[in-house]
Amino acid sequence: MRKQIVAGNWKMNTTVEEGVQLAKDVLAKSAEVGNGVKLITGVPFTHLYPVSQIIGSSNIGLAAQNCADEPKGAFTGEVSVAMLKSVGTQYCILGHSERREYYTETSEKLVKKMALALEAGISPIFCVGERLDQREAGEHFNVVKAQIEEVLFTLSAEQMANVIVAYEPVWAIGTGKTATAEQAQEIHAFIRKTIASKFGSKIADDTTILYGGSCKPSNAKELFACPDIDGGLIGGASLKADDFIAIAKSF
Ligand code: PGA
Repeated sequence: MRKQIVAGNWKMNTTVEEGVQLAKDVLAKSAEVGNGVKLITGVPFTHLYPVSQIIGSSNIGLAAQNCADEPKGAFTGEVSVAMLKSVGTQYCILGHSERREYYTETSEKLVKKMALALEAGISPIFCVGERLDQREAGEHFNVVKAQIEEVLFTLSAEQMANVIVAYEPVWAIGTGKTATAEQAQEIHAFIRKTIASKFGSKIADDTTILYGGSCKPSNAKELFACPDIDGGLIGGASLKADDFIAIAKSF
């Protein structure tokens, strides 16, 4: 059975002090969220350890937003999966469109990062999604399919069982413009079918596929009601504990 998940992506926001307070607020309200719903906080590297101390052994998972594509060594400024693991990180957002666009995160690099994360026992939250020009040209299915084939198809079935997928249309991220529930459901079903074509229907059915892109309390219910949408990857709205929790209560 796949999980219902609401994951926050704080991006490059909050100081450590502010982030610790936000984590405390989320923890305080987390009891309002239904039992079957898993909360995850995706925080900046500097916040991982202090936030891990706040969420402790609660049901809230801890995610990084990136990892190095090498295990260790002379890579100034990079953070390895072993370092992430050592501060209690359980998940890692990989392939976010901002990283693909601004930090040359290619599929080739993502293949290495995914393998390293999975080897370290960290579950990747693997992001896919098309740009506006690609959707307008009717290429969104092909774009998403290629993103999946180039990276996820390099995994074993056992590894794939530990991956969370997030569909985030680039044109909906931080723009206030959400995909309609129909648009999102259509492509989520396509993603599941694509996963099934390689890994079989059992693994595809069990894969959690999140929607991301201007998801907020006012539209989460409609999105989460779709059969192939298993929750959300939340950017802006995850910076307010009330909104984040309200979204998680939208199943
Ligand atoms: P947004 O970001 O909710 O602010 O649109 C989502 C994301 O980029 O993960």
